[in-house]
Amino acid sequence: MNPNSLLSMRDLNTEDIYRILDDAQAFSFAYQDWQLPQRTLIANLFFENSTRTHHSFVSAELQLGALISDFSAEASSVKKGESLYDTVRTFESIGYHAVVIRHPQDAYFKELENIKIPVLNAGDGCGNHPTQCLLDLLTMRQEFQCLENLRVLIVGDIDHSRVAHSNREALEMLGSTVRYSGPKQWVSDQKIYMDLDEGIQWADVVMLLRIQRERGASIQMDAGRYLQTYGLTKERYARMKEHAIIMHPAPVNRGVEIDDALVECEKSRIFKQMENGVLVRKAVIKRAFALPFMKGASNERA
Ligand code: CP
Repeated sequence: MNPNSLLSMRDLNTEDIYRILDDAQAFSFAYQDWQLPQRTLIANLFFENSTRTHHSFVSAELQLGALISDFSAEASSVKKGESLYDTVRTFESIGYHAVVIRHPQDAYFKELENIKIPVLNAGDGCGNHPTQCLLDLLTMRQEFQCLENLRVLIVGDIDHSRVAHSNREALEMLGSTVRYSGPKQWVSDQKIYMDLDEGIQWADVVMLLRIQRERGASIQMDAGRYLQTYGLTKERYARMKEHAIIMHPAPVNRGVEIDDALVECEKSRIFKQMENGVLVRKAVIKRAFALPFMKGASNERA
């Protein structure tokens, strides 16, 4: 596997994380014109639906001057039985310099150890979502200026959430505290379970998750009752700390895990997270090619 791949937050140490976050922030001001070498080809292989991750990778790639391929599994030879490994090996053979992959299988990348070009994980099953985690960290750092000693409450369908898993790994590594809340049947690790009403008053960050029905999550409750029992209602919002913020990886099911009126309220950073997604993905692509910042025109590709 290429050492500049990004598969899981476990691939990164604290120094790597801060370097990516610094680069992401630099893309928002000092290095807006920074470009990849000419004719850098990147393929986006999404085997699962996505709006934010897919199209913020596309936005980042186009802004950095890459040439991109938007693969569709439905229209590809995957339908003829081609394996993931052979699909990625094909993109490598036909001249692509990196691949971005979202796939429903946990740790799909274990099949790709012989691939030499960088692989950027855009989400694997219930496993990992490293670029979502990095954009979440960037959003928290912009708010609190540091990532130590934060109290982060993640609420909802924890066991099916690659976002919860990646965020817990990274935040604990960085010196923050994560607690999980929501329906107990979706929180296997009860050691860090916290009652929602207690957690709302404890947290600096309240991160809400949607119910991942596509991964088998189900609950015998209508939306209104779910919101009252496990969601962020206006009453709970009123009890959040003054400085606390609301996050959600989205897509949001308005009126289920969060009251519709709170999605764009003062404490919400949900659309800021999406904005930060493009910056983080630019930084992760820059890292994939081990390139330094150089202002202005792109390098020639060797
Ligand atoms: N947060 C996230 O991964 O959204 P998409 O599924 O739309 O990419």
